[in-house]
Amino acid sequence: MIKTVKYTRDILPEEFTNDLSAQSHRFQHVEAVAREAFRRYGYREIRTPIFEHTELFARGVGQETDIVSKEMYSWTDVNNDRLTLRPENTAPVIRSYIEHKMWASSDLVKLFYIGPMFRRERGQKGRFRQFYQIGVEVLGKSDNPAIEAEVIEMIYWILDELKISDTELLVNSVGCPACRPQFNETLRRELAPLLRELCADCNRRYETNILRVLDCKQDAERTAQLTPILDLLCRECNLHFLQFRSYLDHKGIPYRVEPRLVRGLDYYTRTAFEVTSRTLGAQSALLGGGRYDGLSETLGGPPTKGFGFALGLDRFVMSLPHDLADPSRPELYIAYLGERAFAYAMTLISKLRRQGIACVMDFEQRSLRSAMKLADKLKVAKVLIVGDNELDQGQLILRDMRSGEQQLLTEDELLRFFHGQK
Ligand code: HAM
Repeated sequence: MIKTVKYTRDILPEEFTNDLSAQSHRFQHVEAVAREAFRRYGYREIRTPIFEHTELFARGVGQETDIVSKEMYSWTDVNNDRLTLRPENTAPVIRSYIEHKMWASSDLVKLFYIGPMFRRERGQKGRFRQFYQIGVEVLGKSDNPAIEAEVIEMIYWILDELKISDTELLVNSVGCPACRPQFNETLRRELAPLLRELCADCNRRYETNILRVLDCKQDAERTAQLTPILDLLCRECNLHFLQFRSYLDHKGIPYRVEPRLVRGLDYYTRTAFEVTSRTLGAQSALLGGGRYDGLSETLGGPPTKGFGFALGLDRFVMSLPHDLADPSRPELYIAYLGERAFAYAMTLISKLRRQGIACVMDFEQRSLRSAMKLADKLKVAKVLIVGDNELDQGQLILRDMRSGEQQLLTEDELLRFFHGQK
């Protein structure tokens, strides 16, 4: 038997899996709430290809990041193009922003996306090799920290609407090209005497991507005493961070400053943030993002300020309350007994569907008992029983699956009954 590839999975209708974190209606629910937030806050949808030129991520995300150096699904196409399944979608969105000259028609472009990303990570609870992100990018001329606070306010609207609680907002500033070199230098000096105690990964990062040493969970205790980046920010970065925080305060959004938060992608400047969940376990990041002024220039575009985030849809689904009904469940199952009843049911179901009723029927003749079993499995609220005898009397039987109550109705009464429910 051929199975799903390791650390990938099927997202299924609820009747085929008891695993709440893999039920498709839960994914739809998060997507619907996010889309509503994007409507209210003025974001427009963008859909970029699932694969891009490898160079986009090498240049955009950073050659030395774990994502680019270890986790990408890349291949050489027959015409020798180096291609990669997208591991994230910020670089592709900026590529599109440049390619379609969006900057020329608007000073502030607000985009959102929903879709799968691919990273060859070691799988565990909440970490997959194909996972789903919902993200936004705000691009344009302004780097006003009010943009950042507004995005975070929107995130909290989404979390509240989804009833996901027990979260924490962590914020930090990772500086800019003016102050980062000085910080890196300080880090290098302070880390040098500790190197022998640090893990192999940190020793590698010391050479290639020193900021990421701060992110290592294994060495957290040893690196806790290092000078925090916030002490070495330049005047502008400091001011930006203070303003950002004052806007969060103004909106009444609580947060914790986490000086070790450096994120796993190289494009960030100034504000970086994550929302973590206390109920998720080791992979606790529900979402992450930050500012990336200059990414457009790195990718050959015009000078552009940028800010955005992406949420892990799989992790959001894991955090939803358990009792979430599936609104796309069929409302009505039509059971028929006999040949004439079958022909009648086929016509009736078309009428009901045209009225907007979600209804299903089976195409094989089966006993009432087995029809009821099927209806039960589909978790429909009502079953309509059409028998040849009842047809002769112009009557249909409508059964409420929860109470077991049955009523006799004519077709007109039935159509009116469902019309009244809409
Ligand atoms: P990221 O922190 O790499 O940022 O990913 C964002 C979120 O995607 C994470 O917080 C997590 O919830 C989810 N995620 C990441 N990897 C996995 C995985 N293997 N399995 C399940 N969920 C995962 C970015 O990707 C940036 N592009 C975000 C951004 C947008 N920054 C600015 N704009």
